[in-house]
Amino acid sequence: MSTIPQPPKREGGTPITKRLTPRDIQTRKNADPIVCITAHSAPMAGFMDPHVDLLLVGDSLGMMVYGLDTTVGVTLDIMIAHGKAVVRGSSKACVIVDLPFGAYQASPVDAFKAAARVMSETGCAGVKLEGGAVMAPTVEYLVSRGIPVMGHIGLTPQSVNVLGGFRVQGKTSEDAKKLIADAKLLADAGAFSIVVEGTVETVAREITKACAAPTIGIGASAGCDGQVIVAEDILGLYSAFMPKFAKRYAQLGDEVSKAVASYAADVRARRFPAPENTYGAGPAKPPAKPGAKPTKTSKKR
Ligand code: KIV
Repeated sequence: MSTIPQPPKREGGTPITKRLTPRDIQTRKNADPIVCITAHSAPMAGFMDPHVDLLLVGDSLGMMVYGLDTTVGVTLDIMIAHGKAVVRGSSKACVIVDLPFGAYQASPVDAFKAAARVMSETGCAGVKLEGGAVMAPTVEYLVSRGIPVMGHIGLTPQSVNVLGGFRVQGKTSEDAKKLIADAKLLADAGAFSIVVEGTVETVAREITKACAAPTIGIGASAGCDGQVIVAEDILGLYSAFMPKFAKRYAQLGDEVSKAVASYAADVRARRFPAPENTYGAGPAKPPAKPGAKPTKTSKKR
């Protein structure tokens, strides 16, 4: 008999899975590392869900999926479409969706309207927004109105045009002090966790020590309470740029290229479709009556 605890079952046998919540993540400060990865589609979310605590529908999809140079052109509708897919494709991880550039910076009211749409239309557990001290009042506004918020400081890609490029943060002592203050303000405002991106190790460790919310690093050392990574960077699915902080766990881009080359060769040589990929004519059927409903078999792939 299995000694692994089994999830409770609904009548009819479907397991009831309880998703991790932002509250569960918040309680993981100074505990086992929190594991987060980006996901943009239902099938990918399904593959990743059993292994991670958090699935982030990051606006990096602007680059990874839509071929943009930065995240600045990503819209709320795009985030909602991908957020829905990731929620549908997962059952255990806590799903967080990025608020895109322009959807929340102007005012807490704008932020609430955007976040409420994201929450109600996707079914996700919370939103992420970029910015430190300047966004703390917005975080407080959202959290006090029922929206769990993940903060994001350090290298904040939506501000790439002000930062002057994707530059590592925390290199001067003033910068370090500001980042630590940013993190504390976001945690005090109620952020359930804070992404620290592209930040030098000593500063990331100080931020983690100083702030009450768990920190989730990306290019911010092992000194954070957890890690997040852009899936395409570790799966070898994005070749335009490979950040120093990412590690390749697979080369799926090469596999895709090889598979498509084989498919193309098979089609050109008439090896595909083979008989096993071909529908036989079967016994002759009488023609369908006009207006007849499609049969079950006609819907099959
Ligand atoms: O958009 C994204 O993927 C992110 C991660 C880099 C944290 O914000």
